[in-house]
Amino acid sequence: MTDTLHLDKRQRAMLAEMGVHVWSPMSEAAVMGAPVDGVMQVHAEQARAVPAAPPAVQAPILMQRSEGVDQMDWSALHTTVSACQACALCGSRKNTVFGVGAPAHADQAPRVDWLIVGEAPGENEDLQGEPFVGQAGKLLDNMLGAMKLSRTGERTGEGGGAYITNVLKCRPPGNRNPKPEEVAQCLPYLERQVALLKPKMILAMGRFAVQALLHDTVPDVDTTPLGKLRGRVYQYQNLPVVVTYHPAYVLRNLPEKAKVWADLCLAMAHIQGAE
Ligand code: URA
Repeated sequence: MTDTLHLDKRQRAMLAEMGVHVWSPMSEAAVMGAPVDGVMQVHAEQARAVPAAPPAVQAPILMQRSEGVDQMDWSALHTTVSACQACALCGSRKNTVFGVGAPAHADQAPRVDWLIVGEAPGENEDLQGEPFVGQAGKLLDNMLGAMKLSRTGERTGEGGGAYITNVLKCRPPGNRNPKPEEVAQCLPYLERQVALLKPKMILAMGRFAVQALLHDTVPDVDTTPLGKLRGRVYQYQNLPVVVTYHPAYVLRNLPEKAKVWADLCLAMAHIQGAE
């Protein structure tokens, strides 16, 4: 005979139907051999045998991402990201970092030729709610300038507009690497940004951006060094993707700057060839 604590199957099914994924400390017990539907079961005999203090009941933490992200317009997507609680990073962030670039018109995505994708906000980005505002951002701005692009998305000369965003929209504490579950929860936002922006070129900077964008199409992308992935044009959502080093890596390895420039030239040549 068993006593059941917390959410029963029906409540869980209802939450799942609403797109609410429930995490609770109970799931660890489930992994260790307890019943796996998230329902904590305690043998009544055991409970009776130890008439000590009642077990501390911890409230489940609800980790939820809104339904319908893949149907949202730009402003709904932005609002949804601002309120996102789909992973634990919502507890430590100061701001979400949606992206920066050419202005949106009403609910429409900005019109840009380039989408630049980095890893995740750092401390400064978290404080300011804008991507790439630190040292790596200065280098990125210089790279954009060399291509006649800018972070405001203005078309300076022939460069076309740009939009800059990250795989994660919230800062991982202490600038640690993104965790797979954080990437999994955040990726639908980037997917929708790409679908709405429809850029002529996506520049994937660093391994987290590369893996997030090419995971489904490039075998072994997770284990192949970035240096081996460079130099080709890939596809994501039928849009071209060029792989390059992350600006923070380049700051630590200045001779790699020339390779980044070569990657940018490949991307520019591809856009021109496609026009
Ligand atoms: N590094 C990133 O990948 N993104 C930022 O926004 C800042 C630093």
